[in-house]
Amino acid sequence: MEKLNNRQFNQYCDLVYREAGIHLTEEKRELLNARIAKRLRVQNVSPDVYFGMIQNDPLELKFFLDAVTTNHTFFFRESRSFRYLDRGCSEIWCAASSSGEEPYSLAIYCLERGFKPSIMATDISVSCLEKGTNGVYPMQSVADIPKHLLGRYFQKGQGRFQGYVKVKDDVRRMVNFQRFNLVKDIPKSKTYDFIFCRNVMIYFDNESKEKVVGKLSNVLRTGGNFIIGGSESLSGLEHPLKYIEPSVYLKA
Ligand SMILES: C[S@@+](CC[C@H](N)C(=O)[O-])C[C@H]1O[C@@H](n2cnc3c(N)ncnc32)[C@H](O)[C@@H]1O
Repeated sequence: MEKLNNRQFNQYCDLVYREAGIHLTEEKRELLNARIAKRLRVQNVSPDVYFGMIQNDPLELKFFLDAVTTNHTFFFRESRSFRYLDRGCSEIWCAASSSGEEPYSLAIYCLERGFKPSIMATDISVSCLEKGTNGVYPMQSVADIPKHLLGRYFQKGQGRFQGYVKVKDDVRRMVNFQRFNLVKDIPKSKTYDFIFCRNVMIYFDNESKEKVVGKLSNVLRTGGNFIIGGSESLSGLEHPLKYIEPSVYLKA
């Protein structure tokens, strides 16, 4: 596959930044090459031709953004901050939900405590949203979930789904997957008791982070919590939230 030269690398980086807020640096050059390669093969075009395509074809742009995002996630990731949910709530927004493990973990956590919020799960990646909507995961991805929770909230696959589990319908119905680009889209006027926006702002620079936190804070209810990832911080940014502890902020 033809590798990106400096000009092409810079063009693609600018576009990824403009479209997704993701700040790619020189260390990410190999990664970008590898990820674009997939789409170049599918379309059978050169990097320059493909660059033109993604600027003119919104669907191909979605596939491209899908290919360049990092979607690593797992069930009950950094679940220490889930205890803030113990007070109960009715609306949660999981704002970079990847393939669904995070919003389903939130749903299960709440069900175990006797309440059933509605959860909006959003991501920029269309393939992740599809996986989340299907709610089907390989057995090894639920290996660390306690047996009693597995039995209560997951169905074991049979036949061609041998080796997979499916999130039970009751839990799936609590989670509504939608595409939402954190840097480009404007939230609807609905408000949320909790917003989880975890392990995505690490890819953003301060300017994008500030914009994202500002717009999400607008739809967080007073008294609601804004939860970020363990390796993220809002320090040095202008925002309307009160720091509670690492990863946890409050709209006072
Ligand atoms: C590393 S995953 C984190 C998933 C989950 N929040 C967690 O903590 O396990 C980051 C997710 O952010 C999504 N993402 C990246 N840029 C985005 C953007 N501009 N808008 C919405 N989602 C974005 C990616 O598609 C990916 O699924």
